[in-house]
Amino acid sequence: MLTSKMLIDKDFQVAEVDPRLYGSFVEHLGRAVYGGIYDPGHPTANEQGFRQDAIEAIKALNVPIIRYPGGNFVSGYNWEDGVGPVAERKRRLELAWWTIETNAVGTNEFADWAKLVGTEVMMAVNLGTRGIDAARNLVEYCNHPSGTYWSDLRISHGYKEPHKFKTWCLGNEMDGPWQIGAMTAHEYGRIANETAKAMKWVDPNIELVACGSSSRGMSTFAEWEATVLDLSYENVDYLSLHAYYNKNNDNTYNFLATSLDLDQFIDSVASICDYVQAKKRSKKKLMLSLDEWNVWKSIGTSRAEERWQIAPPEFEDVYTHEDALAVGCYVITLLKHADRVKMACLAQLINVIAPIMTENNGAIWFQTTYFPFMHASNFGRGTVLQSVVSSPKYDSKDFTDVPYLEAISVHDEENGIITIFAVNRHLEEQMELQVDLRSFGETTFIEHIVLENDDLKAINTKANPHNVVPHNGGHTKVDQGNVQAVLNKASWNVIRLKTKQA
Ligand code: AHR
Repeated sequence: MLTSKMLIDKDFQVAEVDPRLYGSFVEHLGRAVYGGIYDPGHPTANEQGFRQDAIEAIKALNVPIIRYPGGNFVSGYNWEDGVGPVAERKRRLELAWWTIETNAVGTNEFADWAKLVGTEVMMAVNLGTRGIDAARNLVEYCNHPSGTYWSDLRISHGYKEPHKFKTWCLGNEMDGPWQIGAMTAHEYGRIANETAKAMKWVDPNIELVACGSSSRGMSTFAEWEATVLDLSYENVDYLSLHAYYNKNNDNTYNFLATSLDLDQFIDSVASICDYVQAKKRSKKKLMLSLDEWNVWKSIGTSRAEERWQIAPPEFEDVYTHEDALAVGCYVITLLKHADRVKMACLAQLINVIAPIMTENNGAIWFQTTYFPFMHASNFGRGTVLQSVVSSPKYDSKDFTDVPYLEAISVHDEENGIITIFAVNRHLEEQMELQVDLRSFGETTFIEHIVLENDDLKAINTKANPHNVVPHNGGHTKVDQGNVQAVLNKASWNVIRLKTKQA
């Protein structure tokens, strides 16, 4: 059996977790909106056509913010098409994914749905085919109380109260040649800055996310970030990162090490932000928004094979047990960077590279990746503690010194709970985890949740939805401030402990 150690001290803190770290993403793409959240013919649909079963599944994830309406979709979207009487809405050729957009769901409906789910909306504006004018009008439509053309139009559409959307993305992946209206860093930095100014003049309470590179693999990565921030630093609040990892083909150890790439990616982008801050002698430290992340098997393929269908199934990746372990490693990595990454969106939420799957007019089920995300979102609230971890290591094709143990702890001081999230990357051996809780004194055991499966390729399907599900039978012993846990091979673990309150 392997042995690993963790030292946790309540005074060694990374940062308080911003709940928006557990955000997600719903794009007008595939069956995310139509068939996923909206399905008027479904037996559980409410009067607006939203599926109640999906609402319940998403509520259980406790997602505090959801990015909308895209993604690549937003770069060709006329937001005006999606407001006002539904019967009068225009059907449009949608050029990001080569489909027909019916516009049955738009900004107001999504705001209604978000309320039912108990989440905030992270709105994106179109900087591909549109620009400053459409963006500032949209802020006025959504957030201005009344007495102007756009705010009164919203009221005439039945929404007396402004939506007060706080977080806004300045376009999407504007460095990508696949993007409608892709730009150079200089072009984007200028338009992002000017749009940011106008949007904040309409509503000074909003926060803005500038586009970073579409991925760390872009040839313009780093230079893009530096140039864009050079041009927009004082008017934006976050810089975005997008990180998708290819599904494993034949090297699980290498695949499970990809969270080390995410770790370095976050460090690099934070350094670029700090470089621009230094250059500008600015007092402002820029925070990061990892507003798209996941495992994605079909990265690189784009657009429907047959053009101009309505909501065809797209990117309906099926996630395996090892994908869930990778998602667990990414979540732990995000928590390690809680001082810098304030928002993150699991991309996406439903039917499109998603933890939740539905059948049109039919069943709903959870993919393997649903569980680590749900655990982190529900139990990973409080202060991230700088956990000193020592673990045996391995080398893989692309990574060296990969610890078999990936782990972090979060202290929920209010409720006196310490939660340890841990992945045992070893595919054959159990691991004994010895945790020294030092300053916490006496603690007691609450539960040890485990997600494990002998088959790394095990999946959940409509016919077999409970094939990979967590159980509560993990082995953990607690003796005063010492914890001994057994982490089974290839497992995701959530160990929850109660502290003695002063
Ligand atoms: O999430 C799917 C797509 O991936 C998004 O539309 C785009 O931003 C990214 O390339």
